[in-house]
This record gives sequence, C-alpha cells and structure tokens, in this order.
Amino acid sequence: MSGLLSDKIVVVTGGGSGIGAAGARLAAKDGARVVVADLAADAAERVAQSCGGEALTVDVRDSASVQALVAAVVARHGRIDGLFHTAMSVPLVNKHDRRVTELPEEIWESIISLVLTGTFHVCKYFGQQMLKQKSGSIVLTATSDALLGQAGLDAYTAAKGGVVSMTRSMAAGLSPEGVRVNSICPGFVDTPHQREFLEKPEMRHRIEQMHLMPIMEADDVAEFAIFLMSDRARYQTGGIYACDGGYSAFKGRLDVVEVFDRAEG
Ligand SMILES: NC(=O)c1ccc[n+]([C@@H]2O[C@H](COP(=O)([O-])OP(=O)(O)OC[C@H]3O[C@@H](n4cnc5c(N)ncnc54)[C@H](O)[C@@H]3O)[C@@H](O)[C@H]2O)c1
Repeated sequence: MSGLLSDKIVVVTGGGSGIGAAGARLAAKDGARVVVADLAADAAERVAQSCGGEALTVDVRDSASVQALVAAVVARHGRIDGLFHTAMSVPLVNKHDRRVTELPEEIWESIISLVLTGTFHVCKYFGQQMLKQKSGSIVLTATSDALLGQAGLDAYTAAKGGVVSMTRSMAAGLSPEGVRVNSICPGFVDTPHQREFLEKPEMRHRIEQMHLMPIMEADDVAEFAIFLMSDRARYQTGGIYACDGGYSAFKGRLDVVEVFDRAEG
C-alpha cells in the first residue's frame, strides 16, 4: 500500500482509545503495519481489527511489560520505525489531580509514574531498538497544559512538563544517531473521557472560548503524528509542537479595538 508510512512498522501505545486509536487507524491507512498496544486488551483488539493491525497488551508503568512489547514487535517484524506514545489514564487526571496544596501524595505518585516514568520506559526501550537500526521516530503526546498554567492539574502539568523537557534532551542525545524525538501538545480534544465536559453546555462554551477554532477531534492530532513519523519530517527533531486550534496563541477573546471604541463611545 502506498502512503506516508508505506511499509513502516508503527507502534501506538494507548492505541485502544481516543488519539491513539485515531493514530493507529490513520497509520494503517497510510500504509504502516500497526501494533496497537494498550493496557485494555479488548479495546486494543477492537482497534487492531478495525485497521488490520495487531493488538498487544502493555502497561507502560511497568518496565518489564514495555521490554516484552518491544521484543514481541521486533521478533515479528524485525524493526520498529515509529512510536506514537499516547498511553494515559484521562480519568485518573480529570478526577484526582488537584492544586498542589490539596494533592494527595499517592495521586502525585501515580500520575508521575504513569505519565513521566511511562514515557521514560517507552523511550528507553524503543529508543534502544531504534539506535540499533540507526533510524526511527518517537512521537510523544504532551499537552498545552505543560506550556500554560492550568489550575487544578499540578501533577499532570509537572509530568507532561517533564515529557516536554525530555523531548529536547532525548533528541539531543539520540538524533545524531538517526533517531528523531518530537512532542505534540494538543489543546482540548474530543475523546471518550473528555466528552463529559462537552455534554455540559456551560463547560462546552468555556472550552470553545479557549480555542480559536472548533473543538478538535482525535484525528486532528493523529494526522500530525503521522507526519512526524514519516520521512517527510526527516529533519524534524526536538520539536514541541502545539496542535491546539490556537489555544496557546492568544490570551483570551478580548478585541482591544472593540474595548477602546467602547471606552471612547
Ligand atoms: N483528550 C485531550 O483533550 C488531550 C489533551 C491534551 C493531551 N492529551 C494527551 O493525549 C493522550 C491521549 O489522550 P486521549 O484523550 O486520547 O486518552 P484516552 O483515554 O482516549 O486513551 C488513552 C489510552 O491509554 C490507555 N492506557 C491507560 N493507562 C495505560 C497504561 N498504564 N499502559 C498502557 N496503556 C494505558 C487506556 O486504556 C486508553 O486506551 C494522553 O497522553 C493525554 O494526556 C489529551
């Protein structure tokens, strides 16, 4: 099949849902052989079946589980060209993260372990394989919340801020040997666990006001990951890319001309 990822071996962690599922489907459409890796075996299987990929179970918090995933993919395909790392528990963050003064220590630890240590595990073991090949593209999923303040998300922003920083230092370390590392920072994306916000009209309105464009779908983020894993992005490394419908580009919906006109009138 021809496409941006023709014949590439692509692994999507968190591929059972949301942005990862979109990434798996789009990568397959673009010619990749796709491995959908997720903690939720049934979800991974469903997505794999929908795109002709294969499903494997992984817990990114667990080093041995990530090593087993890499070994299984290499045993079957001989190499790994692209990693799209999206695995995350949105409910853990949405329901349990807090501002620092009220943040239970065990919640801090579980979010750091899943988001930051999970990223460390996948980058370490996928990175080792890609270094052997002297090629590969790692695409991480950070968030606009790692770049701008967001009340009530102190563990999540710390962990994703770590992902942003690691992106640059890992690129510096790995890219001279052919391995590219980039991060995407989405704004609010309409994925299954985020939908409950959108079902409340007042909340939907506030989220819409924070972006310059309509609320993003998972595909809008995944398309960019496909590009970053493709050879078209062969000079892209160490990049932290906003993919957020303008969320990080402006301070708020305040038209200064309008304000002064009103003041003068
Ligand atoms: N949806 C948004 O608004 C948004 C905004 C910014 C950033 N992001 C980031 O995008 C990524 C995907 O978000 P989403 O909304 O698509 O999430 P989602 O909940 O739809 O999908 C996440 C997937 O990760 C899997 N997962 C959870 N824990 C895991 C583990 N320990 N090991 C392996 N897999 C695990 C889940 O089973 C699920 O299938 C996350 O990293 C999130 O932080 C999302």
